[in-house]
Amino acid sequence: MGTKKIAIDGPSGAGKSTIAKHIAKALGYIYVDTGAMYRSVALYCLEHGIDPSCEEDVRKVIDDICIDIKYENKEQQIYLCGRNVTSLIRSAEMSMGASNVSKHSAVRSKLVSLQRNLAEKYNVVMDGRDIATRVMPDADIAIFLTADVEDRARRRYYEMKEKGEDISFENVLEDMKRRDNNDSTRANSPLVKAENAILVDTTGNTLEESINYLSQIISKKLR
Ligand code: DC
Repeated sequence: MGTKKIAIDGPSGAGKSTIAKHIAKALGYIYVDTGAMYRSVALYCLEHGIDPSCEEDVRKVIDDICIDIKYENKEQQIYLCGRNVTSLIRSAEMSMGASNVSKHSAVRSKLVSLQRNLAEKYNVVMDGRDIATRVMPDADIAIFLTADVEDRARRRYYEMKEKGEDISFENVLEDMKRRDNNDSTRANSPLVKAENAILVDTTGNTLEESINYLSQIISKKLR
């Protein structure tokens, strides 16, 4: 029997990772955060003086970038060339860098194959931008999770404030709009709702409401 695959796509700040983590835990599946892989490529570039937007320069180093996913206490840990970078990649700079490197086809094909390998080995809840359209078009369940951009920016702003980042709401909103535009207008696997995906709009919902709603949809579908 094949593995079970749940795909959750959507723009940043829609609550994908928190919800996906929760669902994976409840089902005993592995949670795969594909954004963390793009963020790690961005970190590599920035640490090596490479502009993440420059396709030619990124392509030259792509084979040197070694990304490993490990599960420690059931939490995804991401290793970049042997170093645990799980918390280093969460800054606003890495968000923008990831959005920029994710346009390049050499980056996408490397990461997509890593993601497919994980989905062939484990039952997964995988979140990202192209999971149902490209990585796992055969997913058992596909969800497209979205929310109004101001709502998403507000959530991200409070998250960053809590982590002690010195940032204004206006900057977070600007960044989010720029990333939305980058991610949905790029030529390679742009962010679009897969035909078979269930559209869930979490605008105005609490996280708990969204988790409950999605858990219900998923358990009905899996039955
Ligand atoms: O989900 P996230 O915010 O960690 O993702 C960071 C960036 O990586 C996002 O702006 C677009 C890119 N990304 C992608 O292109 N494809 C994915 N499957 C996941 C993320």
